[in-house]
Amino acid sequence: MKIACIGTGFVGVVTAAVFASLGNEVVGLDIDEKKIDSLRHGVVPFYEPGLQELLVKTQAEGHLTFTTSYELAISGADIVMIMVGTPSAADGTADLKYVYAASEAMAPYLKEGAIVIVKSTVPPGTNSKVHEIIERGTKVFFDIASVPEFLKEGTAVEDTLHPDRAVIGATNERTIATLTKLHESLTKNVVIVRPESAQMAKYAANVYLASRITFANQMADLCELNGADVQEVLAGIGQDKRIGTHYWYPGLGYGGSCFPKDVKEIAAYARTVGETESIFIAVDDLNEKRIPRLMEKYDKLVGGFAGKTVGILGLSFKPNTNDTRVAPSLKIVPWLIEHGAIVRATDPKAIDESKPLLPSSVTYVENAYEAVRGAHIAMLLIEWDEYKKLDLGKIAASMVAPKYFFDTRNQYDPAAVTAAGLQYKGIGR
Ligand SMILES: NC(=O)c1ccc[n+]([C@@H]2O[C@H](COP(=O)([O-])OP(=O)(O)OC[C@H]3O[C@@H](n4cnc5c(N)ncnc54)[C@H](O)[C@@H]3O)[C@@H](O)[C@H]2O)c1
Repeated sequence: MKIACIGTGFVGVVTAAVFASLGNEVVGLDIDEKKIDSLRHGVVPFYEPGLQELLVKTQAEGHLTFTTSYELAISGADIVMIMVGTPSAADGTADLKYVYAASEAMAPYLKEGAIVIVKSTVPPGTNSKVHEIIERGTKVFFDIASVPEFLKEGTAVEDTLHPDRAVIGATNERTIATLTKLHESLTKNVVIVRPESAQMAKYAANVYLASRITFANQMADLCELNGADVQEVLAGIGQDKRIGTHYWYPGLGYGGSCFPKDVKEIAAYARTVGETESIFIAVDDLNEKRIPRLMEKYDKLVGGFAGKTVGILGLSFKPNTNDTRVAPSLKIVPWLIEHGAIVRATDPKAIDESKPLLPSSVTYVENAYEAVRGAHIAMLLIEWDEYKKLDLGKIAASMVAPKYFFDTRNQYDPAAVTAAGLQYKGIGR
């Protein structure tokens, strides 16, 4: 099949490479010339495990090309996938200007019978607007479907090659048959629903997971007041099959390119339809306050950050990515510097991405041991593999009193950290 992928960001490049690896003829299209130039030369402009290799392989096989030309990409395509960004507008609603711009630009080149898939995360009702925009620019028959994307950065290639399910939001029988065939080589779990349900399913998945993180944080706060350990509490409920042991992350709250904006968008949607007592509004609000509240707590604990050196481990929003969108470091590092701290920071992949976003006084170093050299406080923000098995004795020897070790991801046994000569502070324990 001939597939055009509009938008070669995180989702676009992964999707284009995966469908090309299945033998489809794929063209990736973006308005960002630098990005396309890099991709043409076989270089993924961001870090995602396994993607670089897949890109080079599919390009060498001749299944994947890149262009900035709508005419080249869309002409002859059986399927056009829209994967442009959908950031939150100032009022929290989804800003759909890139989706609409892509719809307008593709219209003159669509071939008869083409299927346009909206993979960007968009609110219900978007497809009719997209349909209206395309219809203004073409005379051919085309159909629109929603196939939301559920991949996770850090495991995006694996998630796309072997998804738990593909949700296809379509009503036209031919479209359903074509898209089912396309996705069946990836998963047998193809769920056919109406487009509005597919769009809501995407929000529902992210908002549910974000709510689980918020729930764990709320539990953690209570545990800190009564001697319980939130990790033990979660172990105590996880065996209940209705609850499960997976996806419990008490910590700094959720970040990244999707959860914060998707929760904000569903909260804004709830407000616009008059559902002002929504749990989604509360989750967004609690998450916004999470880091400032924790920092106030930590400030008291250490007797004020002013004049103290803090070693920061982890700048990306999660492990195995260099994506810093809504990363905890972007709130914590400026907070520390505003409160008089000296910051030394490290990350395996995201230093270059962080530099323009953080205050210029930050010192960047190569590894965790360098970050905590001469530091009063170590803050583990992101659980990269190399930060999960630190030589605690070496960390303690590099630091100066009071040697606080803030384990914001609950990765360490508090007793082992204490035995190494550090003062342990986890989340909810
Ligand atoms: N990143 C994720 O983990 C993830 C996961 C699931 C769903 N999503 C959703 O997928 C969509 C894309 O996310 P992303 O993280 O890949 O975004 P991104 O910002 O990394 O990439 C978007 C790309 O679209 C391009 N673009 C913008 N307007 C364009 C136009 N008119 N024509 C061609 N290209 C255009 C941009 O230049 C950019 O390269 C969003 O709706 C997001 O919510 C993202």
